[in-house]
Amino acid sequence: MADKQQLLIGAAINYEKVASDSKYKSIVKSEFNMVTVENDMKFTSIHPARKQYDFNKADVVVNFALMNNLRVQGHTLVWHNRIPDWLLRGHYSKEEMKRILKDHIQTIVRHYKNKVYAWDVVNEAFNDDGSLRDSIWLRTIGSEYIGLSFQWAHEADPKALLFLNDFGIEGLSDKSTAVYRLISSLKMQGIPVNGVGFQMHYSISKEFNADNVKRNMKRYRDIGVEVHFSEVDIAVPGNDPNMETDIQGDLYFKLLNTCLNSKGTCTAFIVWGVTDKYSWLPKEKSPLIFDQRFRKKEAYEALVDALKQ
Ligand code: G3I
Repeated sequence: MADKQQLLIGAAINYEKVASDSKYKSIVKSEFNMVTVENDMKFTSIHPARKQYDFNKADVVVNFALMNNLRVQGHTLVWHNRIPDWLLRGHYSKEEMKRILKDHIQTIVRHYKNKVYAWDVVNEAFNDDGSLRDSIWLRTIGSEYIGLSFQWAHEADPKALLFLNDFGIEGLSDKSTAVYRLISSLKMQGIPVNGVGFQMHYSISKEFNADNVKRNMKRYRDIGVEVHFSEVDIAVPGNDPNMETDIQGDLYFKLLNTCLNSKGTCTAFIVWGVTDKYSWLPKEKSPLIFDQRFRKKEAYEALVDALKQ
């Protein structure tokens, strides 16, 4: 159904489960047309020492996806989190940090050239007030690290789509406007930014303002930037399971519907995990569309309903 709507419907997946759980794999193969590599491409996993890259786990995930005709979103080249000690404690100069980051980005992007369809190049670079978030990259290289990262990734694989990914930027706010302005200004300088990822880690009490998100997507459409709903999950914190699964389903429906109403701009809807059993959130929050026993939830049916329309 997603193929017919020209929508990518994805799930974040991990090596550990791909290597060990055949049921998990069969759901990924049959229910999605895209995956995001949830953890195995993060800095600590893939670049554990200055001169050492470890592609083993991410390769298994990427090969599994490609063998099953699933597009791959690489996640994530530049982030403040999951930085290894060798880098944190290295006391490198600005020029050394630029060399390290360029080497990091280009070694990984080249390794997955023609395999990874889109990259989350820079992840979570902003604070809520729209200023740039403190990180080892901002402190050592300065704000230019963002544009440089996109340029370096583009040099390594000119065909890969390049995304900036963040949370709290789907509606109109100081943060989302700062992200929008940065992306427009990078594009005006000729720096290739193809898309923006709205993470959307929600809970059922979230008041979702579809109109606001639509208006935000419209400004990206106007500058030719795609949108992914890149890390969707909806936590259920409370204690009335029946009522709450309804609310969860309704909210999943609204999110996908909002994406589908901006066809051509909103090109992917990605859930942050496959089953509640393996979510990054505590199991009892049951945030995903398959339950702990891998059964389809109301949330799954809600997505089907949205796709039917
Ligand atoms: O793989 C090791 C395992 O070997 C070890 O025994 C275990 C003990 O703690 O840790 C395992 O690693 C954990 C990993 O998840 C895999 O389960 C890390 O400690 C843990 O920090 C890591 O958390 C991930 C988190 O990012 C930090 O990288 C979550 O799974 C992942 O869902 C989450 O994803 C982030 C996105 O990248 C960015 N946006 C927000 C999103 C949710 O926080």
